[in-house]
Amino acid sequence: MRLIDWIDARFPATKFVKAHLSEYYAPRNFNFWYYFGFLALIILILQIVTGIFLTMHYKPDTALAFASVEYIMRDVPWGWLIRYLHSTGASAFFVVIYLHMFRGLLYGSYKEPRELVWIFGMLIYLTLMAEAFMGYLLPWGQMSFWGAQVIISLFGAIPYIGEGLALWIRGDFVVADATLNRFFAFHVIALPLVLLGLVVAHITALHEVGSNNPDGVDIKKTKDEQGIPLDGIAFHPYYSSKDLVGLIVFLFIFSLILFYMPEFGGWFLEKDNFIPANPLQTPEHIVPLWYFTPFYAILRAVPDKLFGVMAMGGAIVVLFLIPWLDRSPVRSIRYRGPLFRIALSIFTISFLALGYLGTQPATGLYTSLAQVFSVLYFSFFILMPIYTSLDKDQPVPQRVTEK
Ligand code: HEM
Repeated sequence: MRLIDWIDARFPATKFVKAHLSEYYAPRNFNFWYYFGFLALIILILQIVTGIFLTMHYKPDTALAFASVEYIMRDVPWGWLIRYLHSTGASAFFVVIYLHMFRGLLYGSYKEPRELVWIFGMLIYLTLMAEAFMGYLLPWGQMSFWGAQVIISLFGAIPYIGEGLALWIRGDFVVADATLNRFFAFHVIALPLVLLGLVVAHITALHEVGSNNPDGVDIKKTKDEQGIPLDGIAFHPYYSSKDLVGLIVFLFIFSLILFYMPEFGGWFLEKDNFIPANPLQTPEHIVPLWYFTPFYAILRAVPDKLFGVMAMGGAIVVLFLIPWLDRSPVRSIRYRGPLFRIALSIFTISFLALGYLGTQPATGLYTSLAQVFSVLYFSFFILMPIYTSLDKDQPVPQRVTEK
């Protein structure tokens, strides 16, 4: 093709497609767990595109915001679809991200040489949390207002600078118009730009070292005469077509929720958020959306405010350290010893339990349980250097095991 030759002489188009698609050799044994990176990419695009259309009709002003969202839902042609795609998309994003991160734990994808892939991933996760938190203020409903009020006031627990910091973040003495305006600016442009940059860094780092796989085998160790890994297959067409199957299944489930239960019983859009923000009336239970509740439960499990904030922050920070806490030479759970399997199971149960407890009132038994599960959550990380060193791992095969 003359046009492609013309472009290639001026821009590395073919080189790029070869390096990242048609000559990017991925392990041939990817399973279910390997769909979620691609799906995260698709949802990121969905959120950006629907976000652009929402911004055309939304008004970032405390006097107009709530009504502008109602206007989008009722009067803008297809506005309800755009809004529900975006709100359901946000929850879908976290479902996909949590599964994507869990795969990392299952197969030791954070281990050498993929530490930076993991670190970039964690930075994406942090940015995504900030993005979702700020987005939730925009409809200016009761939970938007009170959720932001509670979370921003947490900064007040920091000694000396806390109160000043909270005031600086809000731009007012309570969450108000100044807060809404700056959250809008961060939500629609600043954080999406950071996210896009981090995703590029994440995938660049991954393609530099190559993908891990369910066996945790290093496929670059066994290559043919042309230097192509014996257990590798070209991403395109093999995985591009496989990911398409994952996408169709995802869209099927996503559409069912989108069209039949977009609020998902209050889990994706809380009931209180259909009431306009009222600074004079506190809702009975202030609960963040489900993807924040494990950390919210840890925050409330600690009686002291400052230590609670530190525990909540610590719960996220420890995730960054996993590549260095895990001392096992084995990556995949398939060849790990019993200690890691037990630890990961307890951790998973604790995380889910904390997620549930974070949605419940912080009283009596609920608080005690949250304390137990918080201790178990942190034990997974703090004891990791010990149990991964002592574990009786099995021998890892030389080659990928699937026939
Ligand atoms: C917008 C968010 C994200 C996008 C678009 C994204 C995208 C991707 C893609 C396309 C892949 C390769 C395909 C796959 O292995 O599924 C991948 C791999 C990976 N991602 Fe992400 N990711 C995101 C967030 C995260 C987060 C939050 C983490 C963890 C903290 C993470 C950790 C990893 C790891 C460790 C790998 C390598 C997995 C392996 O080779 O076994 N990613 N990511």
